[in-house]
Amino acid sequence: MKRTKIVDIFNPELIGTEVCVKGWVRTRRGNKYVQFVALNDGSSIKNIQIVFDMNVFTDEQLKPITTGSSICVEGLLVESMGKGQTCEIQAKTLEIYGTADPETYPLQKKGHTLEFLREKAHLRPRTNTFGAILRVRSALAFAIHRFFQEKGFFYLNTPLITASDCEGAGAMFQVTTLPLNDLPKTEDGSVDYSQDFFGKPTALTVSGQLEGELGATALGAIYTFGPTFRAENSNTPRHLSEFWMVEPEMAFYDIADNMDLAEEFVKYCIRYALDHCRDDIEFLAEHFDKGLIERLEFVLHNDFVRLTYTEGVKILEESGRKFEFPVSWGIDLQSEHERYLVEEHFKKPVILTDYPKEIKAFYMKQNEDGKTVRAMDVLFPNIGEIIGGSEREADYDKLLTRIEELGIPMKDMWWYLDTRRFGTVPHSGFGLGFERLVLFVTGMTNIRDVIPFPRTPNNAEF
Ligand code: 4AD
Ligand code: MG
Repeated sequence: MKRTKIVDIFNPELIGTEVCVKGWVRTRRGNKYVQFVALNDGSSIKNIQIVFDMNVFTDEQLKPITTGSSICVEGLLVESMGKGQTCEIQAKTLEIYGTADPETYPLQKKGHTLEFLREKAHLRPRTNTFGAILRVRSALAFAIHRFFQEKGFFYLNTPLITASDCEGAGAMFQVTTLPLNDLPKTEDGSVDYSQDFFGKPTALTVSGQLEGELGATALGAIYTFGPTFRAENSNTPRHLSEFWMVEPEMAFYDIADNMDLAEEFVKYCIRYALDHCRDDIEFLAEHFDKGLIERLEFVLHNDFVRLTYTEGVKILEESGRKFEFPVSWGIDLQSEHERYLVEEHFKKPVILTDYPKEIKAFYMKQNEDGKTVRAMDVLFPNIGEIIGGSEREADYDKLLTRIEELGIPMKDMWWYLDTRRFGTVPHSGFGLGFERLVLFVTGMTNIRDVIPFPRTPNNAEF
């Protein structure tokens, strides 16, 4: 008999028909006359109740059905008398695929802490919480593709192994096949990278933007969506060493167009999740974050505040608040500052623009004032920075001057500079940290809980 997914079983038209379901047992309870099994197959947050009539089945048959075991059941779908479910299955046949020893299966009882489940990341997708988070994550990934494809953007795949440092922060994971215990050296004693796999030093990318710009200045508008890697030793609830980034890049967009797109984009994704993952989001709201749905709706129905870094710093300075990191013009804003602006001052998402050039990357368009660049960061409640982007410096001479000022090796950048030598155009783009979006939409508070297998300093398990 053909299997029906549990997500599809709560369909009134199926009542009275024979169905087949397969999945993992959540609980079994009952007495010597009747036994009830709650079965989940990952297709939805909902379990289906299976009723075993103990005149038909024996204790011996049902004994291996413990939490975590996997079974296949055929039976009649009937309306349920019990509260909390609309239908249930009266079992006719039972096949046990695999048992799960109650002594050793770690997900016995409900209510494990998120910290405990991080240690069991190989099994935590089987919990209600992680099932919900991973389904929301998948829906958001689809929404991202749909948004850009509907707008005529092209999906561009940028390399993961690279020889350039896009953000110039130097926090890259080196990629090498050189023997680390016996490195080949040049005459002056430095490592001889000409003998390395690519004939030069390479690393995992921190961003696909630079290649994204090559795409945008040919195809008009592109987006990337892939993993990026950062070897910063930041152990925070918002940072991963391996995270997924979405990077649209558009020719003929100035910074205002860029902000409009960013705002429309995140709102579209949030709307999509609310429309397609209602059960999961309601589950997460009920168990972790009572204000979740209200907060999501709030973001959808309000314009993001737009102001300059300079104005933002002024508000912070005049706030009378004592911050751990004191505020003055020129500092890189800390999460406490961003959250003050968003959560306390404006109580809305904020797009901060025109940051001091010293704290931003080399590629950003320089303003007339000689001090600031056309950067834009989108700051969200509970999250802080969710998007970072800018209008790009389209002028060859200005870009080259900045590259030289910062001492970025030109030999790595010649191909990037070619976009400004041949048919340069105004253009803009941004990067959305995918896990930060998933954090916001699920109401989780630790980024390790919104990616299946997190990579953080000292942690590459699973
Ligand atoms: O602000 P970032 O560093 O910007 C860039 O990489 C640009 N090249 C993007 C562009 O203009 N195309 O990173 C972009 C976003 C941040 O706003 C944040 O949401 C996320 O990526 N992010 C991280 N997410 C998780 N863990 C980390 N270590 C992250 N670092 C940045
Ligand atoms: Mg940033």
